[in-house]
Amino acid sequence: MNRLDQISLGKIVVIREKLLKAQRDGKKIYRFESGDPSFAIYPDIKVAMNKALNEDKTHYIPNNGIPELRDALANKLKLQNKLNIDSKHISVTNGAMHALYVLYQCIVESGDEVIVPDPMWTEAVENARLAGAKTIGVELKPEYNYVYRAEDIEAKITSKTKVIFINSPQNPTGAIIPKAELQKIADLAVKHNFWLVSDEAYEHVLFDGGEHTSIGSLIPDYDKVISVYSYSKSYAMSGLRLGYFACRNELFNDRAGKLLRCTVNGINSVSQWGAVTALANPDSWYTEMNKEYLKRRNLFLEALSGQDILIPYIPHGAFYLWCRVKDGIDVAALSEAMAQAGIGNAPGDCFGECASTVQSIRFAFSCSTEMILEGTEPLRKFLSNYK
Ligand SMILES: Cc1ncc(COP(=O)(O)O)c(C=O)c1O
Repeated sequence: MNRLDQISLGKIVVIREKLLKAQRDGKKIYRFESGDPSFAIYPDIKVAMNKALNEDKTHYIPNNGIPELRDALANKLKLQNKLNIDSKHISVTNGAMHALYVLYQCIVESGDEVIVPDPMWTEAVENARLAGAKTIGVELKPEYNYVYRAEDIEAKITSKTKVIFINSPQNPTGAIIPKAELQKIADLAVKHNFWLVSDEAYEHVLFDGGEHTSIGSLIPDYDKVISVYSYSKSYAMSGLRLGYFACRNELFNDRAGKLLRCTVNGINSVSQWGAVTALANPDSWYTEMNKEYLKRRNLFLEALSGQDILIPYIPHGAFYLWCRVKDGIDVAALSEAMAQAGIGNAPGDCFGECASTVQSIRFAFSCSTEMILEGTEPLRKFLSNYK
């Protein structure tokens, strides 16, 4: 069997295609199923990209990123993320998705085990499987506010464990791993000499007191931490496909360089010039976006009040609302009926297999505030009439 035959096309992708078709057929669809920030990119980024085009910066570039961007990223990682990183430890990738593909190919062999949260955004898990690893899910429990806990991770360790994967703020729950718990996970990785892959795609999507800590900053001398970042969420640059990873391990960087050369051989140069300028954006830009996310989250929570079918977890980061579906209600049927009513959603089995995962449903509040204002009313009506 070809290894790609074990990978799904992604249930959310299938759902999105269906909703897009309904939209094309003229039906009103509220796009609560997918996590794409509604904001336009910051004007300075557009200017920088236009300037790069006008100056003909459109030729081959180093396969791990233009030096100007890697230098600026090293500075950002030192100052903001408190990581012990130099520009030579950074590779620019075609989004964080591509970073996950590359890094797993560099660190796992067939049969190795990778410990992952369940629920989890599927692509993070499938990229590990694509590299031949077996993924071992750790249930994120509602009674612990969906926090990924070191003691639950420890219980899943076997002689085949090679990697602990973490994601905070998390997709799909929005949960943030507290610093003390991160320290315990970091210590566990060091004790067993595991790789630690830290997906920090939502590092800037924080509100209502949410704070982000990069796990690598807690173990600055450990070189088996791979920190992954995305411009899609921080700068609403999802279509421009810009991500990066940072790791101090020499063998890892040697392998990653080879794979970058053999796959993409450098990311779109114009996006990279935009990315340099994005790093100089004022903090007020995140503040403005996060203010809007908070408003959207609260509109959703308001729409879900006074009903008992969906029990939402209140997130302080990322832009998802993860809801437990009342026991006894069939989630697949609920999800389908909601989609038929034009309300986009992603049922729990898109994200894992654990009992509480599959008895849940995710909404994204990254679409425009207008869409949320419009769409939460039909959602409220749908829930009050649902039998
Ligand atoms: C946790 C997580 N990591 C990475 C990504 C991918 O980001 P990118 O658009 O940079 O590939 C996503 C996208 O939804 C995500 O949720």
